[in-house]
Amino acid sequence: MAFQRMTDADREEVGGFIARHWGSRVVMSRGQAYQPHQLDAVLQRSNGAISALATFRADEQGLEVLTMNSTDPGHGVGTMLMLAVLDEARRRTIERVWLTTTNDNLDAIRFYQRLGFRMIEVRAGAVDEARKIKPQIPLIGKDGIAIHDEIVMEARVEPFIGTP
Ligand SMILES: CC(C)(COP(=O)(O)OP(=O)(O)OC[C@H]1O[C@@H](n2cnc3c(N)ncnc32)[C@H](O)[C@@H]1OP(=O)(O)O)[C@@H](O)C(=O)NCCC(=O)NCCS
Repeated sequence: MAFQRMTDADREEVGGFIARHWGSRVVMSRGQAYQPHQLDAVLQRSNGAISALATFRADEQGLEVLTMNSTDPGHGVGTMLMLAVLDEARRRTIERVWLTTTNDNLDAIRFYQRLGFRMIEVRAGAVDEARKIKPQIPLIGKDGIAIHDEIVMEARVEPFIGTP
């Protein structure tokens, strides 16, 4: 299951993938708008097309995962994808990986907790605010749940012991 770093040659295709999966190339997190295809990503291809993608950015608060998608869910690809992101953080000696998900996304909340993420904040009404900037965010999400809130989750990354 090989993952590769996004290169400049991948950016347009990554932008299109994000638009298909997230309504536009813009992704909202904590009131900020990002264009993840301009940032960092790891991806997997199947028959030439992107089949799994995680985008992220790093600053002094840690590595933030902006999007995570697997086009063939339930077969372990998402787990491997997140492990690739955690490895990327470790390589950069970043000890905190964090992300926001939405209140309706119970699959993702379960998935991230299994991978060691903890819920550290509920931002009540944050998605309603984000929708004013990105109107493509749906009102109703998975399982018919109204989308209002952001859940912030984080994982601690063990540093390499010895030489990476
Ligand atoms: C969240 C997401 C990235 C996870 O990717 P995935 O490829 O389904 O991840 P995995 O297959 O590793 O794990 C998902 C589930 O399948 C199970 N699974 C893993 N390998 C499996 C296998 N070989 N056979 C059957 N099930 C398997 C896992 O135990 C996990 O179970 P859980 O849902 O009860 O936690 C993917 O579902 C997705 O793209 N969702 C839509 C976008 C999204 O919501 N992204 C997150 C937004 S913040």
